[in-house]
Amino acid sequence: MSDQLLDQICEIVRQAGSIVLSASADKEIKAKEGAANYVTKYDSKVQKYLVAELTRLLPEATFVGEEDGFSSHKISSGYTFIIDPIDGTTNFICEFMCSGICVGLAIHGTMEIGVVYNPFRDELFCARRGQGSYLNGSPLHVHNRPLNEGVVNIDIAPYNPELRERAFAVSTAISYHSMDIRDIGSAALGICYVACNRCVAYISHLLSTWDYAAASLILTEAGGVFTDLQGHALPLKAKTSLLASTETGLQQTLDLIHPVLFPN
Ligand code: IPD
Ligand code: CA
Ligand code: CA
Ligand code: CA
Repeated sequence: MSDQLLDQICEIVRQAGSIVLSASADKEIKAKEGAANYVTKYDSKVQKYLVAELTRLLPEATFVGEEDGFSSHKISSGYTFIIDPIDGTTNFICEFMCSGICVGLAIHGTMEIGVVYNPFRDELFCARRGQGSYLNGSPLHVHNRPLNEGVVNIDIAPYNPELRERAFAVSTAISYHSMDIRDIGSAALGICYVACNRCVAYISHLLSTWDYAAASLILTEAGGVFTDLQGHALPLKAKTSLLASTETGLQQTLDLIHPVLFPN
């Protein structure tokens, strides 16, 4: 892997950002399965653009992506791009200006490159394995703070009533031990916000590979840690819970949520 490849991927992701920024009022919103789950014509448009440009860059690569038949979750033994064209579609629909375009590159199942870009703030997070992570060119270093020294992002994920209730129960437990809680509405940006110290931890009950692949490398290269909600190490997985945090915050969070999620 080279810095040049990372730069080229960053440039493609920035260009994809201009598609998001130029969205017209008619986004052609369609419902997906479950409650409050939507897709727009721009989710497809951005993914199509990324697949075309990234194929030009690395013709041998295969793709895993959220939209349009790319969602097989099959990580190949060679190069695999893992794409979420718009992470935070509800935010995009509601003009919340907090959505991330995510591109991860895995080789033999290991994340090598991660790029997450919020075009509304012109903030580009990126990382290359072993080479650190950056926000708009400035290096990121996670401060090893406890929970009570920061805010915790908890994904409410309204699609599924059972998960929603679990998220509320976890929020209650965490809110007494942190400065405050948030749900910024983009899993990838939530994880990146731990990497850049805006949040001390991020919690989700159910993510897909494309929600966290790129951001997870940005987090670990900045010195942050992540596991599933039982504290197990997390390889690239089709569906998983996820806890991202500082090292101190991780154990504290696991201790707080364990009695709530696994009472017996
Ligand atoms: C969703 C967002 C949201 C998280 C959901 C994800 P999408 O992704 O990241 O914050 O709670 O679990 O599915 O559908 O907007 O790409
Ligand atoms: Ca979606
Ligand atoms: Ca997503
Ligand atoms: Ca998406």
